[in-house]
Amino acid sequence: MPTPHNNAQKGDIAKTVLMPGDPLRAKFIAENYLDSPVCYNEVRGMLGYTGTYKGVRISVQGSGMGMPSIGIYSWELFNEYDVDNIIRVGTAGAVADSVELRDVIIGMSASTNSAYASQYRLPGTYAPTASWKLLSAAAECAKEKGMRCHIGNIFSSDTFYDDAGSLAEWQKMGVLGIEMEAAALYMNAARSGKNALSILTVSDCPLKGLSTTAEERQTTFRSMMELALETAVKVSG
Ligand code: HPA
Repeated sequence: MPTPHNNAQKGDIAKTVLMPGDPLRAKFIAENYLDSPVCYNEVRGMLGYTGTYKGVRISVQGSGMGMPSIGIYSWELFNEYDVDNIIRVGTAGAVADSVELRDVIIGMSASTNSAYASQYRLPGTYAPTASWKLLSAAAECAKEKGMRCHIGNIFSSDTFYDDAGSLAEWQKMGVLGIEMEAAALYMNAARSGKNALSILTVSDCPLKGLSTTAEERQTTFRSMMELALETAVKVSG
């Protein structure tokens, strides 16, 4: 039962899916970490694979950039493919002073400037929140690995190139980092009665004008990836 965006048949996709923004990262994860990976989607180049990690069936699929894109793919995974858990693995810009290049941020909640929540017709402001099941498992795994990570509020922005340049205002509110997908993912999970989490590596510091090299991103991406995979195993056990 493929959708307009995904060629997979029901059952092709595991209960837990890791979602990088870049589909080539999905390919990298499948080829480097999963045993017997099978590609289930190539529509629009948004590659998706299912394999096993430490004996646990796991899928990995690109989400594309921005909330409209992750909104489509995650909605279909939750509602058409019976996926229970989505762990986004992506990059973020540092916002809080305490966050440095190459650090890992776990998004406990995601503030946003997106209108994504308007579809729910809520008489107030919704607070997109990660699932405790995934958040607590990831925090435990990070502790076991002795990994330095920040856990808290992130900011999901509709704009990468922002004319208003309002990051300093979000910094005053204790926001740790900026990215472009988590809020929509958390809302789709909530509305579907499913679980979501975002684990991010800091690729740049927009307020300080710093960024990592492609090679550094590859290395730090690996430790984030391993944290996400261990989290997936912990919640599937
Ligand atoms: N802004 C938005 N999204 C991002 C950034 C950023 O600076 N860095 C990584 N993802």
